[in-house]
Amino acid sequence: MQPVMILNGPNLNRLGTREPDIYGSDDHADLVGFCVAAGKELGFEVQVGQTNDESEMLAWLHDAADAGTPVILNPAAFTHYSYSLRDACAQLTGPLIEIHLSNPHSREEFRHRSVISAVASGTIAGFGMDSYRLALEALKRM
Ligand code: DQA
Repeated sequence: MQPVMILNGPNLNRLGTREPDIYGSDDHADLVGFCVAAGKELGFEVQVGQTNDESEMLAWLHDAADAGTPVILNPAAFTHYSYSLRDACAQLTGPLIEIHLSNPHSREEFRHRSVISAVASGTIAGFGMDSYRLALEALKRM
């Protein structure tokens, strides 16, 4: 099966308790189960990682770049300011899909800017956990 890395940035370990009106009531373990099952249906071996640590996220992206592994990335707050994450994403050798649970463009102004989008193949936002499934479907079609 084709491996796919799904990487989640800071505070996404808090899903379920974190602002449930915005992010829903499912927790990160639920999200992992959902992604693994959705991936399996599409013939992907999905590995999900979550970190609050920028350097750990960079190391995972470097591994994906070296292995040519497709990446689905929810950069969370890193989206809006992390040039080091952007530079790591620019090194990827497989497709990169940026995703968000919420629609950052309908929220505070600081969320309207993504420093990642310009180096992503595409972006999916605003569909809750389905953003992850849609990203896997998009990968399948690529
Ligand atoms: C998020 C949106 C970001 O603005 C925010 O900082 C997050 C989550 C989302 O999935 O909707 O942590 O990436």
